[in-house]
Amino acid sequence: MTAFWSWYITILTLGTIVALIWLIFATRKGQRADTTEQTVGHSFDGIEEFDNPLPKWWFMLFVATIIFALGYWVIYPGLGNWKGILPGYPGGWTQDKQYDHEMVKAEAEYGPIYAKYAAMPLTEVAKDPQALKIGGRLFASNCSVCHGSDAKGTYGFPNLTDDIWRWGGEPDAIQASILNGREAAMPAWLSILGNDGVKNVAAYVVSDLADRKLPEGAKVDVAAGKALFSTNCSACHGAEGHGNPAMGAPNLTQPAGFIYGTSLAQVEQTLRYGRHGKMPAQLEFLGKDKVHLLAAYVYSLSHDKQKTE
Ligand code: HEC
Ligand code: HEC
Repeated sequence: MTAFWSWYITILTLGTIVALIWLIFATRKGQRADTTEQTVGHSFDGIEEFDNPLPKWWFMLFVATIIFALGYWVIYPGLGNWKGILPGYPGGWTQDKQYDHEMVKAEAEYGPIYAKYAAMPLTEVAKDPQALKIGGRLFASNCSVCHGSDAKGTYGFPNLTDDIWRWGGEPDAIQASILNGREAAMPAWLSILGNDGVKNVAAYVVSDLADRKLPEGAKVDVAAGKALFSTNCSACHGAEGHGNPAMGAPNLTQPAGFIYGTSLAQVEQTLRYGRHGKMPAQLEFLGKDKVHLLAAYVYSLSHDKQKTE
């Protein structure tokens, strides 16, 4: 800021404060010390005001705000080019410097804890109560938006507390899911199989693989659907529909793990247009050590016994 504007702001602000000091003391002068029944003479809708002096504590509040303003001005930057004198901030306080201070402090405090757990095998970390507590907090702030605060997932987002996994439930697989993210690619089938083909293969998935009832009177040919499944779907989902964690193709015989619904209509929808679930990679964002703790936490959710062992 140029010196002109710096002085302009400083003089205007300090001038205002001086004027306010004058105002509150000037209006206090000449006021009676006792109370009175006399009103100031105005009446607004029948509401009148006694001509009493401002209570002392109230007056002192005004004084306190002025003292606060002056103190704030001296300590923090903001008034023109003034940098403030806050200790620990040579050259003046800024948000960035405060953030850096806090990060250094946090690193000194938590760095050794993260490092300790990072050096332990994930299954061991998953038994450590302190680690699970930290993991739980990290989960709440970074993962619960999608997977739910109880990690039980919702439509489109998998449940992480059961033993059904799309990409594998081994410690390493869970860690890889979080660290590098996952991108699922289920092709769209409408243009390849046609509407009847989609209906038939969906019916086969629902009734034979997922073992769910088809709606009464559904006009579908499950046997034809089965044949279509062998030629079109088994490459990814396996001949028996047991899935393939290498590409995140879910096991279609475990309807509890379906994230896009198990009704005939929902499965048809999945087949018609395809699905592209995306788990965002956390390495850049959280770093290796925090992901290690998170993976241990997630692992513990489906391995309760180890938690209490
Ligand atoms: C190229 C590999 C591939 C082929 C071929 C494929 N799928 Fe999939 N399928 C996937 C993947 C990957 C997912 C997971 C999509 C996601 O998570 O977003 C999936 C998801 C599904 C789902 C949804 C499950 C849920 O969680 O709700 C159903 C149902 C399904 N596939 C059925 C089929 C059928 C039937 C066929 C054959 C017509 C087929 N798939 C062919 C890879 C494939
Ligand atoms: C933007 C939403 C979103 C956020 C945030 C998110 N996830 Fe996911 N996550 C997903 C989706 C979607 C999938 C499923 C991908 C697919 O279709 O296969 C998934 C899959 C996973 C899987 C693999 C599940 C399986 O069955 O193999 C794990 C483990 C996981 N997430 C853990 C986490 C953790 C831990 C966090 C917090 C750091 C997190 N996720 C944050 C959306 C999210």
